Amino acid sequence: MNSEFSMVEERLGDVVRILQITDFHIRSQPDETLLGVNTKQSFEATLAAALAEATEPDLALLTGDLAQDASASTYERLREGLASLPCSGYCLPGNHDDPSLMASVLARPPIHYQSHILLKGWQIICLDSTIRHSPYGKLADDQLALLEQYLLEYPDHFALVALHHHPVASGSAWMDTMQLENADAFFDLLDRHSQARGVVFGHIHQTLESEYRGLRILGTPSTCFQFKPGQAQFALDVLPPGYRWIELHPDGHITTQVKRLNTIPSGLDVESGGY
Ligand SMILES: [Fe+2]
Repeated sequence: MNSEFSMVEERLGDVVRILQITDFHIRSQPDETLLGVNTKQSFEATLAAALAEATEPDLALLTGDLAQDASASTYERLREGLASLPCSGYCLPGNHDDPSLMASVLARPPIHYQSHILLKGWQIICLDSTIRHSPYGKLADDQLALLEQYLLEYPDHFALVALHHHPVASGSAWMDTMQLENADAFFDLLDRHSQARGVVFGHIHQTLESEYRGLRILGTPSTCFQFKPGQAQFALDVLPPGYRWIELHPDGHITTQVKRLNTIPSGLDVESGGY
């Protein structure tokens, strides 16, 4: 066998290793806290733990609520905090973010604000599910059209879709008033494209792993405070910050694992009733 060809085959056969980090909720001032947590420090500790692991990511997905106070200075401080990233990071907005500031201030290499990534037989499609000044989400017609366009254009690439809002119920009534409003339209579209394999999101500040309509459904802990599962009303969990590894395999299957720090952030106001 021609050795050059075999090297290309080997590269194409590689697994895509993704680091998902989400919901940093960075404040505009360095010493400001949220629910007692210095969210910038908590974000930095979580990122450092992920990057200390033996294998480096091929790319990072930053799935929204990167800022709590969406200002240019917040995104500048966040960009400094992401300087240690050894790979490209792809950001998308959450309900606390300002998409245009995110695109203009945060998105400088290695951080990118872009909706389509092609890598090793896979495509990762990043969508904006935010509605200005609203905690719940919806995929606007242009976002659904973009999703369909990529799936039609690259039928031979398996697809992982990333967005901020959860498209399936989390099981917490208060949180599920803030899920993706037009999830049926989203899943109906994905149904028409058999290469779609998974959906990954932030927003719920807890681990969610399920399968729905043939897709892997992956929700991920925040880098700051965690929401307690199965609650009627807002309640914090006593769990450390976390992040998720996602491995996209050449045959279209996905393996994944959530990792957490060893301790909860200092100062966490566990009894808080909301923010
Ligand atoms: Fe959040």
